[in-house]
Amino acid sequence: MAVLRAYIDVASAKEIMSSPVTTIAEVGKHEGQSVTIRGWLYNLRESGKLLFPQFRDGSGVIQGVVPKNVVPPEVFDAIKTLTQESSVIVEGKVRADKRAPGGYELDVANVEVVQRVAESDPYPITPKEHGTDFLMEHRHLWVRSQRQAAILRVRAEIIKAARDFFDDRGFTLTDPPIITPAACEGTTTLFPVDYFDDQAYLTQSGQLYIEATAMALGKVYSFGPTFRAEKSKTRRHLTEFWMVEPEVAYGQLDDLMELAEGLISFIVKRCLQRRRVDLQTIGRDISKLEKITPPFPRISYDEAVKNLQEGHAKGALESKFEWGGDLGSPDETYLSVQFDKPVMVHRYPAKVKAFYMEPDPERPELALCVDVLAPEGYGEIIGGSQRMASHELLVQRIREHGLPEEAFKWYLDLRKYGSVPHGGFGMGIERAVAWICGLEHVRETIPFPRMLYRLYP
Ligand code: 4AD
Ligand code: MG
Repeated sequence: MAVLRAYIDVASAKEIMSSPVTTIAEVGKHEGQSVTIRGWLYNLRESGKLLFPQFRDGSGVIQGVVPKNVVPPEVFDAIKTLTQESSVIVEGKVRADKRAPGGYELDVANVEVVQRVAESDPYPITPKEHGTDFLMEHRHLWVRSQRQAAILRVRAEIIKAARDFFDDRGFTLTDPPIITPAACEGTTTLFPVDYFDDQAYLTQSGQLYIEATAMALGKVYSFGPTFRAEKSKTRRHLTEFWMVEPEVAYGQLDDLMELAEGLISFIVKRCLQRRRVDLQTIGRDISKLEKITPPFPRISYDEAVKNLQEGHAKGALESKFEWGGDLGSPDETYLSVQFDKPVMVHRYPAKVKAFYMEPDPERPELALCVDVLAPEGYGEIIGGSQRMASHELLVQRIREHGLPEEAFKWYLDLRKYGSVPHGGFGMGIERAVAWICGLEHVRETIPFPRMLYRLYP
């Protein structure tokens, strides 16, 4: 018993442990029965002749109870000397306990140590406090902590919800290329790729390509990694992030805003239904999320400017916002904290937005675009617009923006062969996770963040 032996496969666990293998999340189905759990030692407390090992298996954490006078001495000794994050297979009886976080405890009967972490080289992340740099440097291990694992589960739920939302509404998933010949969102944040003898770039957005598939399939979306060589070191920017982007043929600005509020409300509701415990583990104020239902407030850029100028007059904003500028982070925060739902700011000056946006026919200096700002100061989570339908105007914009016309020949074709009003938006997954989980920084929203000064691990 409790001998260190090579762990081969599930079968080996079954050989030693006669009880059925289950996960911690599912132990409730086996109340009063013996089960086998395969995982790691999360923590160990000792109190006289009792050991309280906490085991984790990725689905949850369960506390074991090991009384010295009940279990065989080798089992007691094996657990007593277990080091943090040693991998173990344990067998025990499931007992309901109202005080236990998951509702159950395990009366441990048997243990197999799969790998014992050496005392001379202990697990680097201890229950004591660590600095962020240290944790980021050990991100490959940090993801094992309860809070980080909960965040990753919420992230997965958000992605699943976004896909379900579009799949259930007649959208077809179309995957745009990652390696592209030209910019989508401005030339200053392109990551170059040496493509044999050509210059290529990592995609900033799948948009231009899904405009083409929207003309083929009507309603489409893409979901994939996108890249920005951002030199900015903020808590909202990554150099590699994931974006979900719908694109709708015949879709106009109002349709896009309705789609955006529908998507966000759907995702939040799904997280509340399926990830409530994880949100609690993370410490999220759930009552704030419960308010996220359509419709969302909509304000024009003009109204936003007025609001920001009033804020400055009241002394709440340092600098006076002038009409024509793009909203900065403090501006977005100032606006968003006035609402308990995301606020949709529409019709920005075309000058501060991308080349492809359709001008407002009533005021051509404005673009038919929308940014959705999350509440509580989480900033822009969605950016979108109606796309320019006119071939002539689009050529002009491409020239004004100094973009290589040759590379956009195919894109211009879309305005020659049955051009229609259309539009879409992009939602950054990490920004959505940061807001829904209530995180200070986007670095915790993705398993391995890529930032200006972070390429390891
Ligand atoms: O506003 P953006 O730049 O819009 C586009 O890329 C459009 N082509 C999308 C479209 O219309 N199909 O980016 C969209 C969203 C932002 O609102 C933000 O949530 C996220 O992508 N985002 C970032 N997230 C993390 N790090 C960055 N550097 C990001 N840049 C944008
Ligand atoms: Mg934007």
